[in-house]
Amino acid sequence: MFKVDGSKSSQVILVALIAFAMMVVHLGGATQANAQTAIAVPPPPMGWSSWNSFSNTVDAKITMAQADAMVANGMAKAGYQYVNIDEGWWLGQRDADGNIVVDGKAWPALAPGERAGDMANIVRYIHSKGLKAGIYTDAGMDGCSMYPDLGPVYQHVGSEGHYEQDFLQFAKWGFDYVKVDWCGGDKEKLDPAVQYAEIARAIDRVQAKTGHRLYFSICEWGNNSPWTWAPNIGGAPSDIWRTSGDIVPPIVPHQKHSGRLASFTGMLANFDQGVHPEAEHTGFYNDPDMMVVGMPGLTEAQNRVHMSLWAISAAPLIVGADLTTLSPAALATLTNPEAIAIDQDSLGLQGVKVATRGDGLEVWSKALASPGERAVLLLNRTGDPASITVHWGDLGLQDALTTSVRDVWARKELGKFESSYSAHVQSNDAVLLIVRGREGKLTEYAAGASERGSTVQEVLFRNVSSRVRIGRVRIAYRNPDHTPRIAELRVNGQIPTRIAFPPTGSAQASGAVWIQAIFDREGAKNVLDVSPISDSGFRIQSIAVE
Ligand code: GLA
Repeated sequence: MFKVDGSKSSQVILVALIAFAMMVVHLGGATQANAQTAIAVPPPPMGWSSWNSFSNTVDAKITMAQADAMVANGMAKAGYQYVNIDEGWWLGQRDADGNIVVDGKAWPALAPGERAGDMANIVRYIHSKGLKAGIYTDAGMDGCSMYPDLGPVYQHVGSEGHYEQDFLQFAKWGFDYVKVDWCGGDKEKLDPAVQYAEIARAIDRVQAKTGHRLYFSICEWGNNSPWTWAPNIGGAPSDIWRTSGDIVPPIVPHQKHSGRLASFTGMLANFDQGVHPEAEHTGFYNDPDMMVVGMPGLTEAQNRVHMSLWAISAAPLIVGADLTTLSPAALATLTNPEAIAIDQDSLGLQGVKVATRGDGLEVWSKALASPGERAVLLLNRTGDPASITVHWGDLGLQDALTTSVRDVWARKELGKFESSYSAHVQSNDAVLLIVRGREGKLTEYAAGASERGSTVQEVLFRNVSSRVRIGRVRIAYRNPDHTPRIAELRVNGQIPTRIAFPPTGSAQASGAVWIQAIFDREGAKNVLDVSPISDSGFRIQSIAVE
């Protein structure tokens, strides 16, 4: 047993109690959660982006065809919803008032009464299909088309100096999502943490004016460790940030570089650079880039590994392939409901590597919302086939005869296994499993007193230990408000991360979110300092650690 600030001793929470605690009590018609109930957090976005297959040739015709295909081929039904127009949609012209001027030939009227050059036309079209629309700009003065992959150089396609004006325009056009690139910011040596915060605040002001929220996608390629500053930047309720460069530059049929191929090693490198589990929680996600599934270069087996890696990472599932020419196999890979469910799981956690069995043989695990459930990836990075074993202990599960294993790609139950499962994995391949077992024990810690005197809301958890270096932490809290409350978490001397706490329904109702923390002190020597940055009845109650 651990002592917490010399006051209350912590308790070991038994699995039975967790199961009991997952029950939702219905009181007078209102749903009341209790302290152990995990509250669903926003999932990573799913959709399509124009960049990988169309580069700067994107126009209304292409965008409409992709939206049509997303509905017709079943992707929309499977959960894909954003149709994102990337770079190339405008060429840097503004009118005397600084408003973006759009080429009416590329973006014509699409219905009677519409005006050519009005981006609201394409948004209406996308919305009419039941989908959402995304747009693109740069945080600097210029955009990436000053280094064009195809066609001429275009200057001044960034939004610097026009943040509020441009984002207001995007919202008025009806866009739901904005990706903000960093070529211009990089050239000017701007500070991305400063610029992206300013943009997030502009998005907030635009929402206050129009009632329309733009989902915020930060594209700084991981150069300045965005996972340390991007979660909740500028007050964003949820956001994503790129963690690496592009998997492959665009491959546009019948154009320059049309013979390019995406590579398996390039895709794996992006996956590896995207692993920052301490920052991925409560609706904030690392983004290892648009997927190349269905593009030239990867085999069908490699496409499945790619999808498995993005799913176990809870990465945004933004497809870069041309949706009108997807092979049936690529489409099946992208729409596997079990892989998508892993990615979109409402706990919102990133999978972590929990064991290595010799060089290049790895076990990855992603905790899922249902207690005792894990997505498990057995990854063979070597040149030879190999057997890879996962022990239930690697997953934080107890040994139990009732533990079941399911193969996500075979869509088949494999049986029950008491303490481990071994699979034969081909070279450069992976097996994706769902393991349903008995949840491991958590240790609960009560909140101790603040050390910061007047900042009474700060909550300290001292003498905390975890069985593993990257440990799951359940944070119980109350948020009677209608919007998420935010708190900053600092673990030991590490850079803090901001956590969003969704509403729990009332001042009496408790709930919980899960995060993963790096326990870099051995034994019961870790300190978790949680400082709410807004109050309104919001209370942190306790934490439980694996
Ligand atoms: C950068 C981004 C890409 C794409 C291009 C557009 O390279 O990383 O995803 O948006 O710019 O030029």
